[in-house]
Order: sequence, then structure tokens, then C-alpha cells
Amino acid sequence: MKILVTGGTGYIGSHTCVELLESGYEVVIVDNLCNSKEEVVDFIKEITHKDVTFYKGDVCDKKLMQKIFKENKIDAVIHFAGLKAVGESVEMPLYYYRNNIGSTITLCEVMNEYNCKKIVFSSSATVYGSPHKLPIKEDFPLEATNPYGRTKLYNEGILNDLYVADNNWSVALLRYFNPIGAHPSGLIGENPNDIPNNLMPYIVKVATKELEILNIFGNDYNTKDGTGVRDYIHVVDLAKAHVKAIDEVLKTKGVDIYNLGTGHGYSVLEIVETFKKVNKVDVPYQIVARRAGDIDACYADATYAKEKLHWEATKEIEEMCQDSYNFAIKYKNKHNN
Ligand code: NAD
Ligand code: UFG
Repeated sequence: MKILVTGGTGYIGSHTCVELLESGYEVVIVDNLCNSKEEVVDFIKEITHKDVTFYKGDVCDKKLMQKIFKENKIDAVIHFAGLKAVGESVEMPLYYYRNNIGSTITLCEVMNEYNCKKIVFSSSATVYGSPHKLPIKEDFPLEATNPYGRTKLYNEGILNDLYVADNNWSVALLRYFNPIGAHPSGLIGENPNDIPNNLMPYIVKVATKELEILNIFGNDYNTKDGTGVRDYIHVVDLAKAHVKAIDEVLKTKGVDIYNLGTGHGYSVLEIVETFKKVNKVDVPYQIVARRAGDIDACYADATYAKEKLHWEATKEIEEMCQDSYNFAIKYKNKHNN
């Protein structure tokens, strides 16, 4: 079975390609490299000792997408390609709508043309906005609080509408909580070019002394120690969920929605302290004002994924912190030599 992975050289996409290949799937990647590097294709091959077909280009480019479907008999698609920086989406909403929604429309038009109607989509816990209670279940009310979140909600709606119009579609909407960590090989991981927005990549850059100090955004939240609580999930666990979702969409029809998290919430301070302890490294920090739009706490009820996909996260927070740092050190050594 051949799976097209859009955004396959990105953070979650690359780990998913590894898991797909190791589960016996063939993989075709399309990525325009706007937030990743081509060398990732070689690292995926190095880890798995399997071959991968790579197309450098934009999912919004219909001719390219038609060429890919013509040259490969694609059985299903995992659609990761998208822009993901919340702050940037507020500054450049049209860029986000064009890229994140335009890519889905073009992709689905071409899938229809080639009668490939099986898709797994990368959604986000951001679609729950400020949850009224915890843990979050898939049927909670949905709300977008920024253009990025709105692209996720619209894309979910588009894929749902496709199924309503044509019951041959099979759609899995995966709502990720907070992916961190890296492949244990240290070959692939998260590597933002700019100053990171997210907690773990920021901690890593402070630990490696590329940044001076971690700013903790507020210690007056209604949480165990006052700092924000999130459901951090190891990216390898998350990647394995995609293989289960692909197994499922290949054999069913309809739309299914899954929360992908561990079900446990950790505070910013707990993450910092664990990171320091397991990696034996200092992470200086200071408490600063809250970041606009942040919520107190967010963690998943992932029971449905366990029941339907027979998937559950297995990796603990210590391993997530270790693997994040291990990747950063290896990456730094490789690129500085
Ligand atoms: P990433 O930026 O590492 O990967 C996305 C990949 O898509 C990149 O390699 C980028 O070059 C590519 N891309 C973007 N637009 C494209 C286009 N039009 N055509 C071709 N390639 C394109 O991000 P990630 O963390 O791996 O996230 C993958 C998906 O998961 C995204 O849709 C993101 O919104 C979603 N998501 C991520 C998180 C998170 O915290 N990382 C949380 C929830 C949801
Ligand atoms: N935080 C800091 N300092 C930083 C960065 C983050 O204190 O430098 C705090 C935040 O205030 C928050 C926690 O660390 O309490 C986690 O923040 P992240 O930015 O890592 O993650 P978010 O939960 O804010 O958002 C992420 C993605 C969103 C996605 C959401 C749910 O950035 O796109 O998870 O999946 F929608």
C-alpha cells in the first residue's frame, strides 16, 4: 500500500514516514521545504533502510499533485502540510488561509480525480479554544481563537462536507495535543529556524546556550503551581497513531475524530525541572507576563483512540525531554563540524 505524505519532511511528518515504512507501507512525500530540509529524506532512509519517493513542491500546485498521482498509485493520504505559527497567522491571515485551506482543496480535488478517497488530516487541540472542563473529549464545543485555529476548523469542515456529498470518502481527523521529543536515533526531530514559539524547542535552545534565558509566561494560572498545564506527547507515539489511523481509513468509510494525547497534564515548571534533571543541564528561567491567548490547562481524554484504533501513548515525560535534547546536541555537532 502506498501512502502520500504531504509535509513529510516536517517534524511530525518525518517521524510518521519512519513508522509507516517500518510497518510495511510505501511512502511518497511532497513538501515545499518552507519549514524543513531535504536532508530529512536521507535520514528517514537511514533509519529505516527503506526507499522513499520525494517531490519538492507545493500542495497548492495542482499540476504537480496530478503528476504525483499519475506517477504513483496512491492508496491514502496523510495531510500534514501547513503553516503552524499562531502569532504569524494573526499577522498574515491570508497567507495562512491560502496555504492551509488552499492546499486541502487542491489535494482533495486531485484525490477525487484519481478516485483516492482516504485521508488522515492533522488537526489540533486548538479547535477546542478555551475548554469548559477537562479532560477534553472529541464532542466538546469547537471554537477558533486565531486564524491558524480557524484553518484547522475549516479544514475539518471541508473534509466532513466531502463525506456528506460522497459517502465513499474515509476521513480521520487527528487532534494533536502538544508533540515534543524526537526519534531516539537523534537523526530527526524538531528544528525551528527562527526563535521558537513553543516551550520545548525554546528550553532546548536555552540548554544549548543558543538563547540566554527561558521566559515563563505567567505563574498566576489556576493550576498546580500557577504555570500553564499541557498534555505533552512524544512525537514517536503520535507518529504510531497515524499508522493506526491509516490502517483504519483503508478499511472503512466515514468521518472519525480522535484526540491524540497522553491524558496527563504537566506544568511549565514540571517540564523545566524534568528536563534539567534527566539531561543534567541548566535551564535558567524568569517569570514574565502571560502570553496573550494562552489558557490555564489543556489535556486530552484519548479513550476513543484507545478503543477504536487500539492506540495509546506509552512514552513518559522523562524520555520526551531526553530525546528532545539528544536530537539538538547531535544536530548541533553535525552542523558545526
Ligand atoms: P512542520 O512545519 O515541521 O511540518 C509541516 C511541513 O509542511 C513542513 O515540512 C513544510 O515545509 C511543509 N509545508 C507547509 N506548507 C506546504 C505546502 N503548501 N506544500 C508543501 N509543503 C508544505 O510542522 P509539524 O509540527 O510537523 O506539523 C504538521 C501538521 O500538524 C501541521 O498541519 C500542523 O498545523 C499540525 N499540528 C502541529 C502541532 C505541533 O505542535 N507541532 C500541533 C497540532 C497540529
Ligand atoms: N510557554 C512558556 N514560555 C515559552 C513558550 C511557552 O512559558 O517560551 C508556556 C505557554 O505559556 C504554555 C506552555 O508553555 O503554558 C506550552 O506552550 P506552547 O507554545 O509550547 O504550546 P501551546 O499549548 O500554547 O500551543 C501548541 C501549538 C498550537 C496548538 C496547541 C494545541 O503551538 O498550535 O499546542 O495543539 F494548537
